[in-house]
Amino acid sequence: MKKLLMVLSVAAASLSAQAETRDIQGIYNRTCIACHASGAAGAPKTADAVAWKPRLEKGMDTLVKNAKNGIGAMPPKGLCMDCTDAEFKGLIEYMSKAK
Ligand code: HEC
Repeated sequence: MKKLLMVLSVAAASLSAQAETRDIQGIYNRTCIACHASGAAGAPKTADAVAWKPRLEKGMDTLVKNAKNGIGAMPPKGLCMDCTDAEFKGLIEYMSKAK
């Protein structure tokens, strides 16, 4: 019985950890992925640390602002109309991290 409880609590913990990552990843998969997976129209590619380096050097606040306003061929908010600043930050961190 004790063992079963332990298994259950471990399962619950990993479920909630997944929910957190799925959130940002879910948004990414619905929106940003369309351009940032392939680098369409010159978009810095996801997990391409070299492409993201000069972007990150502008500072996170600028990147969030540019993502919200749109930049070059990127439409405002990257088509995620209900994304919050915190979510943009999470998405940028997600995309700019080398895998
Ligand atoms: C329709 C295609 C498209 C979609 C969808 C898109 N992007 Fe982009 N994104 C681009 C392009 C193209 C650029 C390069 C713009 C430039 O520098 O000329 C870019 C650049 C960026 C930059 C760098 C801005 C800078 O100041 O250098 C950030 C941050 C960014 N995108 C975030 C996102 C996020 C977050 C999403 C999803 C919510 C998203 N993008 C969805 C096309 C897209």
